[in-house]
Amino acid sequence: MEKMWTGRFSKQLDKNADDFNSSIHFDYKMYRQDICGSMAHAKMLGAQGIISEEDSKVIVEALKKILEDLDSGALKFDMNCEDIHMFVEQVLTERIGDVGKRLHTARSRNDQVALDIRMYLRDEAGTVVDLIKKLLSSIVKQADAHKSTIMPGYTHLQRAQPITFGQHMMAYAMMFLRDIDRIHDAVKRMNVSPIGCCALAGTTYNTDRVMEAKELGFDAIAENSMDGVSDRDFCIELMSACATIMMHLSRFSEEIILWSSWEFQFVELDDAYTTGSSIMPQKKNPDMAELVRGKTGRVYGDLMALLTTLKGIPLAYNKDMQEDKEAVFDSIETVQKCLEVFAPMVETMTINKENMYKAAQRGFINATDLADYLVKNGMPFRSAYKLVGQLVARCIAENTVLEDIPLEEYQKLSPLFHEDVYESIDLKNCVERRTSEGGTSPKSVEKQIKMVMERLKV
Ligand code: ARG
Repeated sequence: MEKMWTGRFSKQLDKNADDFNSSIHFDYKMYRQDICGSMAHAKMLGAQGIISEEDSKVIVEALKKILEDLDSGALKFDMNCEDIHMFVEQVLTERIGDVGKRLHTARSRNDQVALDIRMYLRDEAGTVVDLIKKLLSSIVKQADAHKSTIMPGYTHLQRAQPITFGQHMMAYAMMFLRDIDRIHDAVKRMNVSPIGCCALAGTTYNTDRVMEAKELGFDAIAENSMDGVSDRDFCIELMSACATIMMHLSRFSEEIILWSSWEFQFVELDDAYTTGSSIMPQKKNPDMAELVRGKTGRVYGDLMALLTTLKGIPLAYNKDMQEDKEAVFDSIETVQKCLEVFAPMVETMTINKENMYKAAQRGFINATDLADYLVKNGMPFRSAYKLVGQLVARCIAENTVLEDIPLEEYQKLSPLFHEDVYESIDLKNCVERRTSEGGTSPKSVEKQIKMVMERLKV
């Protein structure tokens, strides 16, 4: 098939070079955005008298039909085309002849592709936000059901202080809320229209870039034509937000994997989100969580790949930039797939309260509370800390716990100990009393849930 840019060439592109050069096998995904962009362009050309109103209408109608035919499958992509832009223009010209050839006035594929990616990613980013919201609602359901479920909280993966499972869940809710903010923020800068920047220098035609931008739902236009065609910051920002989402999902995955191990047995994943082993009949593997953790590397890689591609490119457009699409599409699709499977996996996960409580009982996680008890009765914190440390060491040597030390023994160490010491180190009380803002108490968890629910409404 003849290329659209054949004019100055005397022979055809080498077959391998042609395949190497073409991007239709991945940029076909932007067909809707490409066609909508072209419709807006044709309208603007007509309104400005650059082409006749009549031609403008014919082009818009034909583009509408192409979109319909692609949606319905009546029209198939021609994978021999160089890219989606060439494909659409080729079909248009086949269908309406010379009028179709007027569409590419006062634009270039350079501003066209920049426009298409921005529009495509804007839509995909919206899908990511919706998926994060679904995950948040699964997290909130677990948190609400377990706002009083006691478990050990860890630092250094050593049992530290008693917390509620609800509090642990809500920590993830906060991360995913920030992820939504990050995406919204990236979309803000993405939603700037490059169309009309043309090849790199703008155009001599009397175009109306603002009209075109408005028609396509952009908030502003790129203020410098060279920047307009060569800026891919919005891809980097979105990919960076994607990498952060994956980092959060990966940490969450790691905990779920750990918690569902035989050693922990804090949670059990639903059969629908686990797999068996081909040889070991007893196995129930958390494959989904492991895959999410694994795919995190891939999304980080996409970000690094594009950052590296962009770093040495002189202004303005260079073909290197065609490499943006596979990386950014892969990032966004991977994040979407991960979120799709993660939300129901979290929602259907069963929590083993008894095991969590058992684990909370034997790790001296109420030692801080015992020290705080002495402090409230007048002892300086450092002295209380030391005394409790010695008590813990003694308990370990005698294979006992703080709850089982008789009152007389306590009182031998300090007259500040009274009968109510046991109540002060009761795990339930330890948790319920942590009512400071953002603390682990069920009341505080409830407050966090309410805040997140409010955010989910908008
Ligand atoms: N397929 C190209 C890309 O994705 C479209 C822009 C091509 N522009 C050009 N001057 N060759 O970047």
